[in-house]
Amino acid sequence: MNIHTLQKKKSTQTKITVVTCYDYASAKLVNDTDIDMILVGDTLSMVVHGFDSTVYATMELMELHTASVARAKPKQLIIGDMPFLSYRKSMQDSLENVSRLMQAGAHCVKLEGAKGNLELVEHVVASGVPVMGHIGLTPQSVNQLGGYKVQGKAPEAAMSLVEQAESLQQAGCFAIVLECVPQTLAKQITERLTIPTIGIGAGPDTDGQVLVWHDLLGLQNEMQPKFVKRYANAGDMLTESLQAYHQEVIRGQFPLDEHSY
Ligand code: KIV
Repeated sequence: MNIHTLQKKKSTQTKITVVTCYDYASAKLVNDTDIDMILVGDTLSMVVHGFDSTVYATMELMELHTASVARAKPKQLIIGDMPFLSYRKSMQDSLENVSRLMQAGAHCVKLEGAKGNLELVEHVVASGVPVMGHIGLTPQSVNQLGGYKVQGKAPEAAMSLVEQAESLQQAGCFAIVLECVPQTLAKQITERLTIPTIGIGAGPDTDGQVLVWHDLLGLQNEMQPKFVKRYANAGDMLTESLQAYHQEVIRGQFPLDEHSY
């Protein structure tokens, strides 16, 4: 998978699938599916490391998890997520951070928001690194947005999102994540852009969808947004397996002769 095959998917109206993934073993599982892209998302600060927002993701964490995923050599395109403020300090600092994620094994990077990022996007793209945009609910700005709320409901806010999407496309982004925006707005943006849109909480009309690993597989119960569909109850299955192991050990049912030397 590469950014050109993705673009073809948009032109042939073939839906694109993305899942977040944060480690080697999970990336091996994704490799056995037809999913198109892996996002090593900064959501890892919440679902893997237990922080209450993505503001706590650092370059060190993103580098570590990107490298872990990359070592599985999945066939999917690996997107490295630029963490909080890692692309806002200076052009040089931002480029060093892009370089760290690429050298950890990402094939492209994602960053949140359009305002103040366009020059960087242009420079990174011109330097040979594909960039994915992310607008709508941008969780790194949760403290400014006042919570995890649907964005672009009012006409001016919707117009601003259309403009942001167009400016990111103009700056050279190969795709844009639309998070938590009304379905009609996501459809409008998707129709206006020539690059693919990837939705999360943005309805069915985007060019593709992304879900967070722990939400999709039922591995966390803390946040259950309306847009999530659980395809498994892996959390329950894992707890039951752990409890079965515990019970068998205390009852003398494990290990048996067949497990012993
Ligand atoms: O970090 C992440 O997992 C994301 C998705 C929610 C799109 O940015």
